[in-house]
Amino acid sequence: MKNIGIAFALLPLLLQLLLTGSGRGHLLSGQPDIDLTIQAQEQLISQHNDSAYVQRLMRLAKSAEMRSYMQPELEACDNFYDYSCGHWPQINPANGVHPRETNYEQLLVKAYHHKQQRLLERPANGEVDELAVLRLKQFYASCLLFRQMPEDVYRRQLQEIVAEFVYVPDLSQPGQEWPTEDFDWLDTVARIKRKYGFNILLLLQLSADRIYVGQPNKIQALPDRQARANVIRDHLESHLGVEEKLAKTWAREIADLEQQISRGMVERRVGILSQLRKPEELDAPNTEAFNVTQYVEIVIDRELDPNETLYEHVPSYLSHLAKVVTDASPQVLGRYIFHELLQHFFYERTGNIVEQCVSRVRDLFPELLDNMVYKQYGDAAILSDIEGIWQQIKHSFRGVLENSSADWLVVETREQLLEHLNATSLVVNGHADVNFTQRYESLELKDREYLQNLKAVFSRETLTAKIIPSTSLVYNPLENTVLLPVALLQPNIMWSRYYPRALRFGSLGTLLAHELAHSLEDASKWDAKSFAEYAKRKACFKEQYGRLRLNGRYLPESSLQAENIADNLAIQVAYHAYRRYLSELATSALGTESLPQLKLSPRQLFFLSYAQLWCNDANEEFRDKQSLLKIRTPNALRVMGALSNFETFGRDFSCSSESRMTTPQKCQLFAASLD
Ligand SMILES: *[C@@H]1O[C@H](CO)[C@@H](O)[C@H](O)[C@H]1NC(C)=O
Ligand SMILES: *[C@@H]1O[C@H](CO)[C@@H](O)[C@H](O)[C@H]1NC(C)=O
Ligand SMILES: *[C@@H]1O[C@H](CO)[C@@H](O)[C@H](O)[C@H]1NC(C)=O
Ligand SMILES: *[C@@H]1O[C@H](CO)[C@@H](O)[C@H](O)[C@H]1NC(C)=O
Ligand SMILES: *[C@@H]1O[C@H](CO)[C@@H](O)[C@H](O)[C@H]1NC(C)=O
Ligand SMILES: *[C@@H]1O[C@H](CO)[C@@H](O)[C@H](O)[C@H]1NC(C)=O
Repeated sequence: MKNIGIAFALLPLLLQLLLTGSGRGHLLSGQPDIDLTIQAQEQLISQHNDSAYVQRLMRLAKSAEMRSYMQPELEACDNFYDYSCGHWPQINPANGVHPRETNYEQLLVKAYHHKQQRLLERPANGEVDELAVLRLKQFYASCLLFRQMPEDVYRRQLQEIVAEFVYVPDLSQPGQEWPTEDFDWLDTVARIKRKYGFNILLLLQLSADRIYVGQPNKIQALPDRQARANVIRDHLESHLGVEEKLAKTWAREIADLEQQISRGMVERRVGILSQLRKPEELDAPNTEAFNVTQYVEIVIDRELDPNETLYEHVPSYLSHLAKVVTDASPQVLGRYIFHELLQHFFYERTGNIVEQCVSRVRDLFPELLDNMVYKQYGDAAILSDIEGIWQQIKHSFRGVLENSSADWLVVETREQLLEHLNATSLVVNGHADVNFTQRYESLELKDREYLQNLKAVFSRETLTAKIIPSTSLVYNPLENTVLLPVALLQPNIMWSRYYPRALRFGSLGTLLAHELAHSLEDASKWDAKSFAEYAKRKACFKEQYGRLRLNGRYLPESSLQAENIADNLAIQVAYHAYRRYLSELATSALGTESLPQLKLSPRQLFFLSYAQLWCNDANEEFRDKQSLLKIRTPNALRVMGALSNFETFGRDFSCSSESRMTTPQKCQLFAASLD
């Protein structure tokens, strides 16, 4: 009775959700407080699981959400993406500035961020919180309290940070000359790196006993340089108190320099295509401009052995930088460096303070925060749900590889692939194995000194790469694991024990199968004959995806077909797994595999949940660029491509043989017909 009472109490909110028909659609564009309420309600409702009535409410809400994205008057057989996602752009519109793209992953992330925020807002409690969590909350509290710090004290503290490295006159006092004769930019960026770990102009990174040196992360130049200059000008004025006219000039110069630097940069992960060098080989080309050995020695605080080897990250970058720094005036270079340094310490004195501080904590303690959510929400039932579907997907994948349609694989190769598949494991990325007490016990924080606390956090582990937690699934070939981000543990968004299983297989199932498909790519497992056969099939995808059109433009014929192949395998594998689930389900239970007010068969529902996983909207300008990008097929075409290759789709929707979704030329790695 009690549970039903709660459900009734929440009914008005749910009704609101159903009537607006937008479900979670509000999360992106609506006000944060409304989103939070809906999230919180959902949590409450879903915790009371033992009432059929609650289940019905949850299903109604999910149905309303799914229907709200659809454009059911369109023909599913003509364009299944538009049929499934046609109204998405109205509900979650992208725009020119932010967000330039909207998609389902963002909804997940947004809900996840709310969960993180709720955990942070619980008052620190020495009885229940671990030491690391207490530190984190102390840091968060110091950030919130910093609003009370008088502005002049804040500015003075920023100037003190610069003064740790070089003498600079008070920037807010006009007419002060900055003596630049003694300014040594290389020495300055090296000391900043050693102390705080920021890669300004140059990068240094230790990983697996290797020293990488070279290009920092690519600066994403804004298309509009004036817009960037305005941002910097605002920084200079509001944070440093630089007088308006001066700020304008300086900002322009800094933005110009930034653009010149970014022109010589490429998008590349550290470790990819780096070149082994001895110190003198690194120095030789640019002796006039700078001495890389000197930089490295200051940062790592020891001398390099002449025989020691370093890895140069993006070999073309150093000579580009040499030219830029030679041409730049020392003043401009200096201001650029100090702006780069200080922006890590900027504190917004207006706007949503909770948002600012939560996002700071998220950047600085990513693993600990993930771990907190994991402990809070990753209960045994959810983990076992996820492990269950993982096993079913693996089982089904094995079936596809064992089927006669995979006979083109040479026997030994096939066995190796099967073994590899069997050995692949799923890891929930909640960092349960990290000893956070050990990691944070030496971190000393003060209750009110936010900037001091920031310094303390930055000065830890300055030479290793910063962790950027992923919010999507990834396959890690080194460990042969599929990593599931904590954000995906959230139930009642994509999947839930209240919803039909079709949704679980269509969303989580296809995502898992996609990553598993990447585990087949390890070339060392393939013999030449099988590989030649594989290449033939790959060529089919290449040709086919090259013929697909988005907004009237053709996609570039890309040779990077791995993603497309993984998509195609994933839908096949997940469908197969769902079909087995259905076949084992008692006929009387089949009714649970549908949603109220959505007249779709269980299999059709499976396809709908798959397609809606990829609903998105992208700003026009961004969209054009997207189709020119060679790496990723745009979402709509991912759905169209994979489903039109999959014969069963056409059958489940009774498509005629002429419809667009039943292209006669199908590309498949394994053409296992599964019905
Ligand atoms: C429902 O929740 C109760 C606790 O509230 C739990 O004991 C029970 O196992 C749950 N049932 C299901 C089907 O998850
Ligand atoms: C660069 O610096 C290192 C160490 O300070 C020094 O040994 C080396 O001779 C310098 N190289 C050049 C080309 O000046
Ligand atoms: C550098 O390597 C060479 C050959 O490997 C060796 O003869 C020489 O002693 C090494 N020099 C130093 C300073 O270690
Ligand atoms: C998968 O690996 C387990 C051991 O990890 C083994 O017991 C099992 O037989 C393997 N299954 C297949 C189909 O190879
Ligand atoms: C974690 O580290 C602390 C000290 O750094 C130690 O006392 C504790 O036993 C460790 N916990 C585990 C589970 O290893
Ligand atoms: C392969 O798939 C066909 C249907 O396409 C099916 O009849 C057959 O049983 C499958 N073979 C294996 C070994 O699973």
